[in-house]
Amino acid sequence: MFYSTDKNDHGLPHDPFKAIIAPRPIGWITSMSASGAINLAPYSFFNGVRSKPPMVMFASETRKDSQTFIEETKEFVCNLATWDLREQMNQTSAPYPRGVNELEEAGLTAAPCRLVKPPRVAEAPCALECKYVQTVPLQDHHGHLFDGFIIIGLVVGVHIDERYIRNGLLDSAAMKPIARGGYHDYSVLDQSFTMRRPTSVAETKALAETKAG
Ligand SMILES: Cc1cc2nc3c(=O)[nH]c(=O)nc-3n(C[C@H](O)[C@H](O)[C@H](O)COP(=O)(O)O)c2cc1C
Repeated sequence: MFYSTDKNDHGLPHDPFKAIIAPRPIGWITSMSASGAINLAPYSFFNGVRSKPPMVMFASETRKDSQTFIEETKEFVCNLATWDLREQMNQTSAPYPRGVNELEEAGLTAAPCRLVKPPRVAEAPCALECKYVQTVPLQDHHGHLFDGFIIIGLVVGVHIDERYIRNGLLDSAAMKPIARGGYHDYSVLDQSFTMRRPTSVAETKALAETKAG
Protein backbone atom coordinates (compact mmCIF):
# COMPACT_ATOMS: atom_id res chain seq x y z
CA MET A 1 0.00 0.00 0.00
CA PHE A 2 0.95 3.62 -0.34
CA TYR A 3 -0.59 6.77 1.07
CA SER A 4 0.33 10.42 0.93
CA THR A 5 0.48 12.21 4.25
CA ASP A 6 -1.33 15.34 3.04
CA LYS A 7 -4.42 13.19 2.34
CA ASN A 8 -3.58 10.57 5.01
CA ASP A 9 -5.63 8.18 2.86
CA HIS A 10 -4.23 4.98 4.38
CA GLY A 11 -7.75 3.68 4.96
CA LEU A 12 -6.72 2.22 8.32
CA PRO A 13 -8.61 2.96 11.54
CA HIS A 14 -5.48 4.56 13.05
CA ASP A 15 -2.48 6.39 11.59
CA PRO A 16 0.33 3.81 11.15
CA PHE A 17 3.21 6.35 11.14
CA LYS A 18 4.37 5.81 14.73
CA ALA A 19 4.22 2.03 14.24
CA ILE A 20 6.84 2.45 11.50
CA ILE A 21 9.17 4.64 13.57
CA ALA A 22 9.44 1.90 16.17
CA PRO A 23 10.93 1.10 18.57
CA ARG A 24 11.55 4.64 19.81
CA PRO A 25 13.68 5.10 22.93
CA ILE A 26 12.00 7.04 25.69
CA GLY A 27 13.61 10.12 27.20
CA TRP A 28 12.01 10.41 30.61
CA ILE A 29 12.77 14.02 31.22
CA THR A 30 13.16 15.88 34.51
CA SER A 31 13.24 19.65 34.41
CA MET A 32 12.91 22.55 36.84
CA SER A 33 11.16 25.91 36.42
CA ALA A 34 12.72 29.24 37.36
CA SER A 35 10.65 29.15 40.57
CA GLY A 36 11.92 25.65 41.44
CA ALA A 37 8.91 23.51 40.37
CA ILE A 38 9.94 20.00 39.30
CA ASN A 39 8.56 18.28 36.21
CA LEU A 40 8.89 14.73 34.89
CA ALA A 41 7.44 13.50 31.58
CA PRO A 42 8.23 10.88 28.92
CA TYR A 43 9.14 11.81 25.34
CA SER A 44 9.63 9.11 22.70
CA PHE A 45 10.55 11.44 19.87
CA PHE A 46 13.88 11.23 21.63
CA ASN A 47 17.35 10.13 20.71
CA GLY A 48 21.06 10.66 20.98
CA VAL A 49 22.28 12.76 18.06
CA ARG A 50 26.03 12.83 18.60
CA SER A 51 28.56 10.95 20.72
CA LYS A 52 31.61 13.24 21.13
CA PRO A 53 30.48 15.34 22.85
CA PRO A 54 27.33 13.35 23.65
CA MET A 55 24.17 15.21 22.65
CA VAL A 56 20.47 14.34 22.85
CA MET A 57 17.23 15.70 21.43
CA PHE A 58 13.56 15.34 22.09
CA ALA A 59 10.60 16.72 20.19
CA SER A 60 7.59 18.36 21.75
CA GLU A 61 4.47 18.07 19.59
CA THR A 62 3.25 21.35 21.09
CA ARG A 63 4.88 23.63 23.65
CA LYS A 64 4.62 21.64 26.90
CA ASP A 65 5.86 22.19 30.46
CA SER A 66 9.15 20.32 29.92
CA GLN A 67 10.15 22.64 27.07
CA THR A 68 9.06 25.75 28.98
CA PHE A 69 10.97 24.74 32.13
CA ILE A 70 14.08 23.76 30.17
CA GLU A 71 14.12 27.05 28.29
CA GLU A 72 13.74 28.87 31.62
CA THR A 73 16.57 27.20 33.51
CA LYS A 74 18.68 25.75 30.62
CA GLU A 75 19.09 22.30 32.15
CA PHE A 76 17.38 18.90 32.08
CA VAL A 77 17.91 15.23 32.85
CA CYS A 78 17.06 12.19 30.68
CA ASN A 79 16.23 9.19 32.86
CA LEU A 80 16.13 5.67 31.42
CA ALA A 81 12.60 4.22 31.39
CA THR A 82 12.70 0.49 32.06
CA TRP A 83 10.30 -2.45 32.25
CA ASP A 84 10.27 -2.21 36.07
CA LEU A 85 9.34 1.49 35.87
CA ARG A 86 6.80 1.25 33.03
CA GLU A 87 3.72 2.05 35.13
CA GLN A 88 5.38 5.05 36.79
CA MET A 89 6.62 6.27 33.41
CA ASN A 90 3.11 6.08 32.01
CA GLN A 91 1.64 7.83 35.03
CA THR A 92 3.99 10.80 34.57
CA SER A 93 2.59 11.39 31.06
CA ALA A 94 -0.81 12.41 32.49
CA PRO A 95 -1.77 16.05 31.90
CA TYR A 96 -1.02 17.24 35.43
CA PRO A 97 -1.41 20.98 35.99
CA ARG A 98 1.81 22.98 35.83
CA GLY A 99 3.59 22.97 39.19
CA VAL A 100 2.55 19.42 40.16
CA ASN A 101 5.64 17.28 40.75
CA GLU A 102 5.00 14.12 38.66
CA LEU A 103 7.98 12.45 40.31
CA GLU A 104 6.23 12.57 43.70
CA GLU A 105 2.83 11.76 42.17
CA ALA A 106 4.25 8.53 40.71
CA GLY A 107 5.88 7.56 44.03
CA LEU A 108 9.40 7.93 42.65
CA THR A 109 12.46 9.15 44.51
CA ALA A 110 14.27 12.34 43.51
CA ALA A 111 18.05 12.02 43.66
CA PRO A 112 20.28 15.09 43.36
CA CYS A 113 22.32 15.61 40.22
CA ARG A 114 25.96 16.73 40.27
CA LEU A 115 26.18 19.30 37.47
CA VAL A 116 22.57 20.40 36.93
CA LYS A 117 19.78 21.46 39.31
CA PRO A 118 16.84 19.23 38.21
CA PRO A 119 16.85 15.94 40.12
CA ARG A 120 17.16 12.53 38.51
CA VAL A 121 14.87 9.56 39.11
CA ALA A 122 16.76 7.47 41.69
CA GLU A 123 15.03 4.26 40.56
CA ALA A 124 16.22 4.64 36.94
CA PRO A 125 19.45 2.68 36.22
CA CYS A 126 20.88 5.49 34.08
CA ALA A 127 20.43 9.25 33.85
CA LEU A 128 21.99 11.87 31.60
CA GLU A 129 22.56 15.34 33.05
CA CYS A 130 22.09 17.84 30.21
CA LYS A 131 22.73 21.50 29.51
CA TYR A 132 20.18 23.02 27.13
CA VAL A 133 21.72 24.04 23.81
CA GLN A 134 18.92 25.16 21.48
CA THR A 135 15.31 24.84 20.43
CA VAL A 136 14.65 24.18 16.76
CA PRO A 137 11.13 25.30 15.75
CA LEU A 138 9.62 22.79 13.28
CA GLN A 139 8.31 23.95 9.93
CA ASP A 140 7.09 22.35 6.71
CA HIS A 141 8.91 22.40 3.38
CA HIS A 142 7.31 25.78 2.54
CA GLY A 143 8.68 27.29 5.71
CA HIS A 144 5.31 27.37 7.52
CA LEU A 145 5.91 26.95 11.24
CA PHE A 146 4.11 24.27 13.27
CA ASP A 147 3.55 24.42 17.00
CA GLY A 148 6.30 21.79 17.32
CA PHE A 149 9.88 21.95 18.56
CA ILE A 150 13.07 19.96 18.88
CA ILE A 151 14.96 20.60 22.10
CA ILE A 152 18.66 19.80 21.98
CA GLY A 153 20.95 19.28 24.95
CA LEU A 154 24.59 18.48 25.61
CA VAL A 155 25.19 15.67 28.09
CA VAL A 156 27.55 16.89 30.81
CA GLY A 157 27.17 14.10 33.36
CA VAL A 158 26.20 10.42 33.26
CA HIS A 159 24.85 8.26 36.10
CA ILE A 160 25.02 4.48 35.76
CA ASP A 161 23.90 1.86 38.25
CA GLU A 162 27.08 -0.22 38.41
CA ARG A 163 25.11 -3.44 38.90
CA TYR A 164 24.59 -3.35 35.14
CA ILE A 165 28.27 -3.11 34.22
CA ARG A 166 29.56 -6.57 33.24
CA ASN A 167 33.13 -7.19 32.08
CA GLY A 168 33.57 -3.46 31.59
CA LEU A 169 30.51 -3.12 29.34
CA LEU A 170 27.13 -1.63 30.17
CA ASP A 171 24.59 -4.43 29.68
CA SER A 172 21.65 -2.61 28.05
CA ALA A 173 19.46 -5.70 27.84
CA ALA A 174 19.87 -6.38 31.58
CA MET A 175 18.37 -2.95 32.34
CA LYS A 176 15.33 -3.84 30.20
CA PRO A 177 14.77 -0.42 28.66
CA ILE A 178 11.32 0.05 27.16
CA ALA A 179 10.58 1.67 23.82
CA ARG A 180 7.46 3.14 22.27
CA GLY A 181 5.79 1.77 19.17
CA GLY A 182 2.57 2.76 17.43
CA TYR A 183 -0.86 3.05 19.04
CA HIS A 184 -0.56 1.96 22.70
CA ASP A 185 2.27 -0.47 21.97
CA TYR A 186 5.64 -0.71 23.66
CA SER A 187 8.55 -3.09 23.38
CA VAL A 188 11.23 -4.12 25.82
CA LEU A 189 14.89 -4.75 25.06
CA ASP A 190 15.81 -7.93 26.92
CA GLN A 191 18.28 -9.48 24.50
CA SER A 192 20.81 -8.15 22.05
CA PHE A 193 23.20 -9.48 19.41
CA THR A 194 26.66 -8.37 18.39
CA MET A 195 27.81 -7.56 14.86
CA ARG A 196 31.10 -5.87 14.16
CA ARG A 197 31.11 -3.01 11.68
CA PRO A 198 33.45 -3.54 8.68
CA THR A 199 36.55 -1.37 8.90
CA SER A 200 37.13 -1.33 5.10
CA VAL A 201 35.34 -2.07 1.81
CA ALA A 202 37.74 -4.99 1.26
CA GLU A 203 36.60 -6.52 4.55
CA THR A 204 32.94 -6.14 3.52
CA LYS A 205 33.61 -7.93 0.23
CA ALA A 206 35.55 -10.70 1.94
CA LEU A 207 32.66 -11.21 4.40
CA ALA A 208 30.12 -11.37 1.53
CA GLU A 209 32.30 -13.92 -0.33
CA THR A 210 32.64 -16.09 2.78
CA LYS A 211 28.85 -16.11 3.16
CA ALA A 212 28.26 -16.83 -0.56
CA GLY A 213 30.88 -19.58 -0.65
C1 LIG B 1 5.74 6.79 26.14
C2 LIG B 1 5.31 8.20 25.86
C3 LIG B 1 6.00 8.95 24.95
C4 LIG B 1 5.64 10.27 24.66
N1 LIG B 1 6.35 10.97 23.73
C5 LIG B 1 6.03 12.26 23.48
C6 LIG B 1 6.79 13.00 22.52
O1 LIG B 1 7.75 12.52 21.93
N2 LIG B 1 6.44 14.28 22.29
C7 LIG B 1 5.38 14.87 22.94
O2 LIG B 1 5.11 16.05 22.70
N3 LIG B 1 4.65 14.19 23.86
C8 LIG B 1 4.95 12.91 24.15
N4 LIG B 1 4.22 12.19 25.07
C9 LIG B 1 3.17 12.87 25.83
C10 LIG B 1 3.75 13.67 27.00
O3 LIG B 1 4.45 12.81 27.90
C11 LIG B 1 2.59 14.35 27.76
O4 LIG B 1 1.99 15.30 26.90
C12 LIG B 1 3.05 15.00 29.06
O5 LIG B 1 1.90 15.42 29.78
C13 LIG B 1 3.94 16.19 28.82
O6 LIG B 1 4.32 16.66 30.07
P1 LIG B 1 4.89 18.11 30.35
O7 LIG B 1 3.84 19.11 29.89
O8 LIG B 1 5.04 18.08 31.82
O9 LIG B 1 6.17 18.26 29.60
C14 LIG B 1 4.53 10.85 25.35
C15 LIG B 1 3.81 10.08 26.27
C16 LIG B 1 4.18 8.76 26.52
C17 LIG B 1 3.41 7.94 27.51
